Amino acid sequence: MFNADDLKKGFLSDLENVINENNLSDLWKKYFSKQGSIQGLMSGIRNVAKEDKKAYGQFVNDVKTWAQNKYEEKKSEIEKAALKTRYENETIDVTVPSNAQEVGCLHPLTTVKYEMINVFAGMGFEIFEGPEIEDDDHNFTRLNVLKDHPSRDMQDTFWLTDELLLRTHTSPGQIRVMDKEKPPIKVLVPGKVFRSDSDATHSPMFSQLEGLVVDKHITLCDLQGMLDEFVRNMFSDSAKTRLRPSYFPFTEPSVEVDVSCFRCGGKGCSLCKGTGWIEVLGGGVVNKKVLENCGIDSTQYSGLAFGIGIERITMLKYGINHMGKMFENDIEFLKQFKA
Ligand code: PHE
Repeated sequence: MFNADDLKKGFLSDLENVINENNLSDLWKKYFSKQGSIQGLMSGIRNVAKEDKKAYGQFVNDVKTWAQNKYEEKKSEIEKAALKTRYENETIDVTVPSNAQEVGCLHPLTTVKYEMINVFAGMGFEIFEGPEIEDDDHNFTRLNVLKDHPSRDMQDTFWLTDELLLRTHTSPGQIRVMDKEKPPIKVLVPGKVFRSDSDATHSPMFSQLEGLVVDKHITLCDLQGMLDEFVRNMFSDSAKTRLRPSYFPFTEPSVEVDVSCFRCGGKGCSLCKGTGWIEVLGGGVVNKKVLENCGIDSTQYSGLAFGIGIERITMLKYGINHMGKMFENDIEFLKQFKA
C-alpha cells in the first residue's frame, strides 16, 4: 500500500558508509532530525486520504522503528570498535623493566653532624639551638669579649646594625643556656655561623658544634677525656688528642686541640703536613667571668667548653680539599657519599 523502499535503500547504503561517530551523527541528522527524511515521510500524511491516515501513521512509525533499530545496532558497533582501538592503543607492557629511581642520601655535613651529636649524646649531652642573628651582648660582651678589645678582630663580623650581627660562633649559645638553666649543665649547640672570610678552608658560612659542661669539679681533664672519646669514635680507635695552650676570652685556660693523624698514625704525611698531628677544635675551662655573667657562682661551679668546626671534621674524614665543594650542590660530588 504505502511504500518507503527508496528511503530504506538509501538509509541502508548510508548506514554501510558509517565508520565513525561523526558519520553516525550525520546519519542521525539526515534521517531522524526535524528536517530529516523520516520526519518528511510523516509530513506526507497531509496527502493521504482521511480513512488511510491511521494506517499511514502506523506505517511511518514502523519505518522509523526499523531505522532506529538499525541505527542503534550501528551505534553500538561503532562504540565497541572505538573502545577496542582505545584498549589496543593504551595497552602497556607490564613486563618492561622500569627506569630505576635514584635514591638520594644525606649531605656529608648532615651525616657528620649527626655522627658527632651521637658520640656526645652517648656521654649524656642534650641539644640546644640558638638564633643565627645575635646581639653584641651574647656574641661578644657576656663572653668576656669586651668592646674595643683586640680579640674582637679575631673574627670578621657581619654586622647588621650597631647591636645586631650574624653570630660569628655558636658560643653565644653558652650564655643563652646558662641564663635559662642552673648547673649541672651538659649541652651541645649545633648551628650555622658567619664570618667575612673565604678561601680553600674558610667559607663565609660554616657550621659549628659547641659543647658546654658546668658542674662541680669540672676540669681540663674532663675536656680531654671527652675529646679523646670523640676522636676515637670519629676517626679511629687509636686516635689520641693533644692540647696546646691557646687564647679565647671566654675560656681560661684555653686550648687548641689536635688529633693524632689518623692517616699516617703519627709518622707524618701530607694530611698532617709531616707533624703527625691535625688541629681540630678550640676549647678550654669556662672563664669564671662568663659564669658570673650568667649568675652562676664560680666558687661552687666550674665548666668546660669546646667549639668544633663541622666542615673541618667532614673535610678531614673524607679527604675533601676545598670547603666550597660542600656548598656547590654538585650532584656528582654528593653522590659519592651514598652509603
Ligand atoms: N668559639 C670559638 C671559635 O669559634 C671556639 C671555642 C668554643 C673556644 C668554646 C673555646 C670554647 O673559634
